[in-house]
Amino acid sequence: MKLLMVCLGNICRSPLAEGVMQHLSDEQGLGWKIDSAGTGGWHVGEGPDRRSTRAARNHGIDISKQVCRQFRKSDFKDFDHIFVMDKYNLSDVLAMAPDEVSAEKVKLLLGNREVPDPYYDDSQFEPVFELIEGGCKDIIKELTGKRAK
Ligand code: 4NP
Repeated sequence: MKLLMVCLGNICRSPLAEGVMQHLSDEQGLGWKIDSAGTGGWHVGEGPDRRSTRAARNHGIDISKQVCRQFRKSDFKDFDHIFVMDKYNLSDVLAMAPDEVSAEKVKLLLGNREVPDPYYDDSQFEPVFELIEGGCKDIIKELTGKRAK
C-alpha cells in the first residue's frame, strides 16, 4: 500500500504525517510506503521545519532526512490513498484530479476535521503531532481492521 500525505508547504504537517505513518507501518510490519508533498512549491528541496523535526524526535521518530517536494498530477496514479490536512489542501488537490477514481483517493487525514497549520505558532507543534498520530492510527484501523498501539 502506498500513502501520500499532503499539506500546503510540506515542511510542517505532512512531514510529521509521513514520519508517524511510516513509523507505525514499520512497527506493525505492514510494509506500507509513505511519502509527503505540498500543494505549494516555496520550500522544494528543503528539509522539514525544525519545530516539526523536534516534535517528531520527542516521540522517537526521525524525519530530518525528508526532502520537500510539490504535489504533482502523477501522484494520483502512484498512490493508493492521498491524505490532506485541511480543506484548502483538499480543494487544491481535487482541482488537479484527472478523473473520478483519482478524486476518490483524496480524503482529510482526520476524516471530518482539519489539522491546523502550526507554522505561525510554536506552541502548536506538539498538539498537531498528537492530532496527526491519532489520525494515522484511525487510518490503520480502517485500512487493516487492526488497532495501532
Ligand atoms: P505546512 O505549513 O503546510 O504544514 O507545511 C506551512 C509551511 C510554510 C508555509 C505555509 C504552510 N509557507 O507559506 O511558507
